[in-house]
Amino acid sequence: MKSDDILLELRKFVAPEYIFGVDARLLAGSYCKKLGAERVFVATDAGIRKTPWLGELEQSLQEEEIDYIVFDDISQNPRDFQVMAGARVYKEKQCNLILAIGGGSVMDCAKGIGIVATNNKRINLFEGIDKILNPSPPIICIPTTGGTSADVSQFAIINYFEQKYKMAIISKALVPDVALIDPFVLQSMDNYLTACTGMDALSHAFEAFVSNANSPFTDLYALEAIKLVHENLMINIEEPNNIQARGKTMLGSLYAGLAFSNASLGCVHSLAHSLGGYLDLPHGECNAILLPHVVDFNFNSAPDRYRKIAGMVGIETLNLSNNQVKSHLTQYLISFRNALGIKDTLKDKSVTPDIIPALSKKAIMDPCNATNPKPPVSKDLEVIYKEAL
Ligand SMILES: [Fe+2]
Repeated sequence: MKSDDILLELRKFVAPEYIFGVDARLLAGSYCKKLGAERVFVATDAGIRKTPWLGELEQSLQEEEIDYIVFDDISQNPRDFQVMAGARVYKEKQCNLILAIGGGSVMDCAKGIGIVATNNKRINLFEGIDKILNPSPPIICIPTTGGTSADVSQFAIINYFEQKYKMAIISKALVPDVALIDPFVLQSMDNYLTACTGMDALSHAFEAFVSNANSPFTDLYALEAIKLVHENLMINIEEPNNIQARGKTMLGSLYAGLAFSNASLGCVHSLAHSLGGYLDLPHGECNAILLPHVVDFNFNSAPDRYRKIAGMVGIETLNLSNNQVKSHLTQYLISFRNALGIKDTLKDKSVTPDIIPALSKKAIMDPCNATNPKPPVSKDLEVIYKEAL
């Protein structure tokens, strides 16, 4: 393949209808009506209850005279039993549409509730790729964080609580019907949540760009996402009410979501799913810690792609060898996350060498490994965890 050739292998691209911009959240009621809602299952969590966003949403449903119930028993790293409880409520109350307002945990749980409600099976039976037979009820998502992109993706990540790991469920059936993406709501995030969710978006874009399933469409979004997050995430911390910077970060998150939903992910996510499930840690924080170590592991399997990424974050690569670019890029990632306030290593998060084999054993089963540019074996994942201690 010549350097300016494009990939002509078959690729597809799926995305929901999405509306991006300030006040998109206020369209919830009218979109529910358009989709034929009779009783809406509103999925949210205790954190969102403290913001004005839930009240506004209820008002928009009332204005359209649409009946609804609110389900808020959803935690960080949503558990399998929360999905099952939500699906029971959905059916008992005879809802016919799901409206999720929250971060990745809420949206992933809502997606799980949808597929359990229509397929009548335990959520763990959908783990893996394309295991969903019957489509979910209509789902509308309003993301309140700038990173997860569950509102546009084919992914739902659910914590299999007894087994202490996070299951990746991947299917076109999980793409929401509508995403109402409103940068205004990002202002309610604290600095640490802003940093973690932004690093999740950056990890999505990195992994999608070097994925074995990349395409010209996903490349476009992944590279622009890296540039937007690199240029704007820090401004979100310094000036939390700078709506332009919030908007650019939200756009970066959306682009990264469109890229990874279609190109899939890699070892940062397989390692983070296992780690986050075992120790109940925030997903973005796990990614921020693991990303430089995975770049180090992968670099020589996709050097040209990593050189392009380095260029997007301001590293002048022209006269540098691959090893020098690798070193600059991993250093950049460590400095960037430190500057954002994510300074812990895995040791600080209570990871000890004795639990690493168990973590690797779960991580190697994760479907995200399939598209990592360097196919890992369990020992490789152990080494990455050890380096991140
Ligand atoms: Fe993620």
